Amino acid sequence: MTRIIRTQSELKQRLTGHDSIALVPTMGALHEGHLSLVKLAHQKAKTVVVSIFVNPKQFAPHEDFGRYPRQEARDIELLTQAGAHIIYLPQTSEIYSSNTSNPTNVGHLGTILEGAVRPHFFAGVAWVVYTLFQHVKPQVAIFGEKDFQQLVIIQTMVRNMRLHTTIIGAPIIRQTDGLAMSSRNVYLSDTQRAIAPSLYRTLSDIKNQLEKNMDIQSCLSQGEDQLLRAGFDSVDYVSLCDSNSFTPLSTPKAHARLLVAARLGAVRLIDNVSVW
Ligand code: PAJ
Repeated sequence: MTRIIRTQSELKQRLTGHDSIALVPTMGALHEGHLSLVKLAHQKAKTVVVSIFVNPKQFAPHEDFGRYPRQEARDIELLTQAGAHIIYLPQTSEIYSSNTSNPTNVGHLGTILEGAVRPHFFAGVAWVVYTLFQHVKPQVAIFGEKDFQQLVIIQTMVRNMRLHTTIIGAPIIRQTDGLAMSSRNVYLSDTQRAIAPSLYRTLSDIKNQLEKNMDIQSCLSQGEDQLLRAGFDSVDYVSLCDSNSFTPLSTPKAHARLLVAARLGAVRLIDNVSVW
């Protein structure tokens, strides 16, 4: 049975006595990527909690907080079908109440790549995730590799703060043409939607070249050119990093991650793949 809970006190009451809880934090507008996390959560714990909260603190004033897709009734239906035990829809006042302290600090990792383009972003994410952990007290929390830097920042936060939650990363779910699923894909016009799959195609091409031992710097700059030729309006970064420290790599190394962010008009798409 799926329960819809909107207050921290009801949540606390419902979760008392549960000692195997998996949390899947989301901002709603759910798609198969989110639902794959819910499926994984069922394999990792007895009680599955999915939160839906469009977090104002991770949007800058010029970003899309106001028009971010909200479809609560449909999300509830999808999560009921997926067998979530609790759908937690907290109020902004309970996430940002003035009497709760929030000691999160995302450090240097929060200032590079996505953090360089969106300086407010990871502090907002860390804040809400920490607060949700305080409310739900999950043994396990699932995050998608789609937002790879976010996943590593949360893993780092948990380690630094010695929180008792195990963070599990889940693979990226894609459309059949390779485009990573995202709630923001609805912003794409038909023309932009036709260009968008070249993001993953380019990542795959760069990965192949790198694995053939081609020069890293020229692979990355050729990748950027390929994106612009495919129709992207601008490229924020094409970066090859160590997947834990996010240090840029100039020589091949196991556990590397190739990350990209590029823009189609006002829509910004991100994607990543593992290399080596
Ligand atoms: P949101 O964008 O709704 O994503 C919720 C979770 O779904 C994240 O862990 C994200 O990485 C994962 N996800 C999104 N698209 C995916 C895909 N195609 N395949 C696999 N997983 C995917 O990320 C956020 O919300 C917020 O920043 C949040 C963590 C909830 C904090 O507000």
